[in-house]
Amino acid sequence: MKILILGNGYIGNRCLDSWSDAEMCGDIINTVDDIKKIIDKYKPDGILNTIGIKGQPNVDWCETHQAETMWGNVVIPIMIAQACKEKDIYLLHIGSGCVFYGESPDPKGWAETDFANPQATYSKSKYAADLALSKYPNIGIARIRMPLDNIPSPGNIINKLVKYEKIIDVENSLTVIEDMMDVFHKLLEMKASGIYHVANPGTIKHKEIMEMYKKIVDSSISKEWIKEEDLVKQKLATKKRSNNFLQTKALNELRIEMRPVKEAVRDSLEKYKKLKDELLSRSV
Ligand SMILES: NC(=O)c1ccc[n+]([C@@H]2O[C@H](COP(=O)([O-])OP(=O)(O)OC[C@H]3O[C@@H](n4cnc5c(N)ncnc54)[C@H](OP(=O)(O)O)[C@@H]3O)[C@@H](O)[C@H]2O)c1
Repeated sequence: MKILILGNGYIGNRCLDSWSDAEMCGDIINTVDDIKKIIDKYKPDGILNTIGIKGQPNVDWCETHQAETMWGNVVIPIMIAQACKEKDIYLLHIGSGCVFYGESPDPKGWAETDFANPQATYSKSKYAADLALSKYPNIGIARIRMPLDNIPSPGNIINKLVKYEKIIDVENSLTVIEDMMDVFHKLLEMKASGIYHVANPGTIKHKEIMEMYKKIVDSSISKEWIKEEDLVKQKLATKKRSNNFLQTKALNELRIEMRPVKEAVRDSLEKYKKLKDELLSRSV
């Protein structure tokens, strides 16, 4: 199949690099017409929308740039949905698991169909797009959560945890990028509609990730561990972060599987270490 990736960012480029049947268009989109022209040019069988506004240096930026956030995360996806509907093209849009905060009604975790409780502007914008797009028959929404990658990158949760001096020890669902790219491709092939939680089965604590990092990548690393409420109290963040467990019922119904989270994280860290060593040996 011919996949068109919209958005020239972190996840778009990861998918482009690992899929042989994908092309990318990183053009800035402002109107439905822009997207229709792009569709006419590339003639894809399916589109992956990776366009989004996450804020720089982090999501707290969205609190002071609400209009830009809503434009990029709500208006642009609605325009892409409109163009795809008119052109009869399947669209896989990337959503976020951070639309859920805290304990879920079902102790097994938040279900795809649960009404979300977003608190931060970024989370609200991502949920607004989910609400607008989730009923289109030609659209799938893939919610991802704290992507963990096997290559060093500023968007990789490994790099983020290594960079922070103080870390909260919370337990979460998480998306391993290597598995995610495979799931995205399958959803595009199937033209699967509705919402999917693309998270590896099980949950993991930040402390467990860092313990694995210490064993596999760098034994000298040490961190200060703080309580969840201290993140805002100590002014390390403006808004409380989303922490949650996600159920993956919708993916399971399609018989799409991801590796258990701890196995996938360990494997990613081993690959991360190998690449880091290769990069180091090339630089000396
Ligand atoms: N990475 C994560 O931690 C994470 C977690 C959950 C969900 N997601 C979602 O996954 C998606 C991709 O994230 P990412 O990490 O790849 O983000 P990213 O690296 O910031 O990439 C997003 C890309 O979209 C582009 N863009 C913004 N507005 C645009 C417009 N109007 N027309 C064309 N391009 C535009 C950005 O360009 P500029 O850089 O020039 O603005 C950027 O290249 C987003 O929807 C995000 O919300 C990401």
